[in-house]
Amino acid sequence: MSEALVGSRIDIRPLAVHEAEARLDELANILVDAVAHGASVNFLSGFSHREGRAFWLSQLPGLAAGEKQLFVADDGSRLVGTVLLMFAPQPNAPHRADIGKMLVLSSCRRRGLGARLLAAAEEAALASGHTLLLLDTESGSEGERLYRSRGWIECGRVPDYFIRTDGRLGDTIMFYKHLR
Ligand SMILES: CC(C)(COP(=O)(O)OP(=O)(O)OC[C@H]1O[C@@H](n2cnc3c(N)ncnc32)[C@H](O)[C@@H]1OP(=O)(O)O)[C@@H](O)C(=O)NCCC(=O)NCCS
Repeated sequence: MSEALVGSRIDIRPLAVHEAEARLDELANILVDAVAHGASVNFLSGFSHREGRAFWLSQLPGLAAGEKQLFVADDGSRLVGTVLLMFAPQPNAPHRADIGKMLVLSSCRRRGLGARLLAAAEEAALASGHTLLLLDTESGSEGERLYRSRGWIECGRVPDYFIRTDGRLGDTIMFYKHLR
């Protein structure tokens, strides 16, 4: 079976808070896998499954309150990708949201899942009146390539923004996208 066919059988869908709570282990697996493969997604080398569960547990109140939405890639037996759409809380920014935890299990990458997850988050943002999206990602990362390929616009670069999983300092790139 071709890689494209495998990818097309994976469902991209919102994950409601009760299901997120029930599937914390799978969500943690995706995050731990990303860090273990060198992704700079706020955590350091050695990031554990317990810490991964704690991260996703901390997202549940925001999901329940409607402050954010979680989308997942689901192959029918397990979750293999995530993205968070986080609405700006400021009263003067009802049109703005951030993208975060854009993750695809390392064994499932380059099959279009990242692009499909991002498209799902963008569609949901637009449907709820959020027409400006922002995010930042490590310079030189797969994330940077994904966002550029999907029409995101670079609006700044900050050297030495965070500590990479290899212990060196890494640069971040800020991106935005206007949805229409
Ligand atoms: C970024 C990430 C989510 C992309 O997921 P993915 O499922 O592999 O992405 P896709 O297959 O949908 O790729 C979409 C496009 O992004 C670009 N891209 C993604 N990964 C790439 C890579 N390793 N090399 C070159 N281009 C890449 C390509 O343009 C690709 O389109 P193409 O396959 O038609 O050439 C995944 O690599 C990942 O989880 N990385 C670790 C976590 C991370 O860094 N997330 C971003 C933090 S903000």
